[in-house]
Amino acid sequence: MEVTLNRDPKWSKIDHLFVVLAEEEKHFPFKSMQKVFDRSGFKGRSDETITLLSDEPRKITLIGAGKKDKLTLRGIRTALYAIGKIAKKQRDRSIAVAVPYDIPDLDGADSTRVVADYLSQADYKYDTYITKKEDEENHAPIDAILIPLGDLDTKRIKQIESEARALRAGLRTVRDLGNAPANLVTPARLAERAEEVARSVGVKCTVYGRKEIERMKMGGLLAVNRGSAEEPRFIVLEHAPKKARKHVALVGKGITFDSGGISIKPAERMEEMKFDMCGAAAVIGTIEAAAKLDLQIKITGVIPSTENLPSGSAYKPGDIITMMSGKTVEIVNTDAEGRMILGDALHYASQLEPDHLIDYATLTGACVIALASEAAGLFSNDDELARKLIDCGERVGERLWRMPVWDEYKELIRSEWADMKNSGGRWGGAITAALFLKEFVNCPSWAHLDIAGTAYAEHETSREARGATGAGVRVTLAFLESLSRS
Ligand code: BES
Ligand code: MN
Ligand code: ZN
Repeated sequence: MEVTLNRDPKWSKIDHLFVVLAEEEKHFPFKSMQKVFDRSGFKGRSDETITLLSDEPRKITLIGAGKKDKLTLRGIRTALYAIGKIAKKQRDRSIAVAVPYDIPDLDGADSTRVVADYLSQADYKYDTYITKKEDEENHAPIDAILIPLGDLDTKRIKQIESEARALRAGLRTVRDLGNAPANLVTPARLAERAEEVARSVGVKCTVYGRKEIERMKMGGLLAVNRGSAEEPRFIVLEHAPKKARKHVALVGKGITFDSGGISIKPAERMEEMKFDMCGAAAVIGTIEAAAKLDLQIKITGVIPSTENLPSGSAYKPGDIITMMSGKTVEIVNTDAEGRMILGDALHYASQLEPDHLIDYATLTGACVIALASEAAGLFSNDDELARKLIDCGERVGERLWRMPVWDEYKELIRSEWADMKNSGGRWGGAITAALFLKEFVNCPSWAHLDIAGTAYAEHETSREARGATGAGVRVTLAFLESLSRS
């Protein structure tokens, strides 16, 4: 939903007011409604919601947030997602929302921005291909007014509003791309979408096809592409403001469908592998948001894209592939395809000599086994960058958990026949994948985010819809913003 910040909404124009309240709250944030609140018997427990009827606004829904000293961003997100569901179900056209608390460890401005962000996403549903929409889903978009409490000045409020809008646009791009099926989002279509987004925000976009990819000798990308009837693409986006003092390169895995190839995956849940381009989508969405905000940072997005399918011409276990960097790889598992295309992309991006190089990939099942969907795996050769990313993530509700990239693990991807193998087997699978990537990084400040567990939700949860989540966008935008201020 579209979120506007307004301290003083016209109650007569609001269908439904939502207030998130902690336990034992005695004071209702709106004086005129204190009596209705007092009579409600509302306790504020975290599982409690009640709707009261009033005059203006006609409906007031109270959402319990639990104990005040135990408030968390996670709890607030649950409340905001519930608000989206209720408003949709009740066909509200215009709602107002108040969350009269700061989120722990955040100041008023940051709290308001995070609330605006998650509220914006609260009614998201991918329903492009539902031909018979239920009434409730079919109704007009909800206008939401977020009522900021506390002492934010008008200028700050306007700024938070535009930040939330930019983020909303970027997240929508990522979630729609991720949720769209692989028969529609092919590498060519992904590139077209990147071009469309780039054009809409004044970013340069260059798309390379098979011929040019061959000329650049991207052996990893070409090897994975060999089993597919769809041509590969290599996409480069450039946000290059004149005053930029820093350059950040963002690399995203763009496997539009991962069947595993000759080392084919089991049928069960293979349909989820349409999400294997969520890293690529995150790069597009992040650049969209950053460009909308006109961040004074040079940002280059680099996306290798192909399907990974088996066929008579597909790459095979035992093959030896020469990558763009010149290093050779013995294929032991064609399902370890992400690192093959990223190896080339990271080498390409390193040559641009960015200050920071960050990649996003639904890279390993091992990372999901380690962290499930609570956190993305973070791997880095730069302690300061790692710290900053973790910190930015905490502030926006995207947890990152650092894992090692110690040289000792390299033994696991040592090959008898080539410079390295493309898989180190099951043990430490997320780490050996990161170490493989590191072989192609030539940048002293690199971070790899394994978003296999966070890029999409297998089921709807109390905090978000099923499907693509937009993982990577929030944390990166926060990082880029902090970089632009420093
Ligand atoms: N795209 C998958 C990783 C993945 C798994 C993403 C589950 C999301 C959910 C990746 O290409 C892959 O297949 N990785 C293999 C690597 C192995 C063969 C070394 C894996 O994790 O099993
Ligand atoms: Mn795979
Ligand atoms: Zn994959």
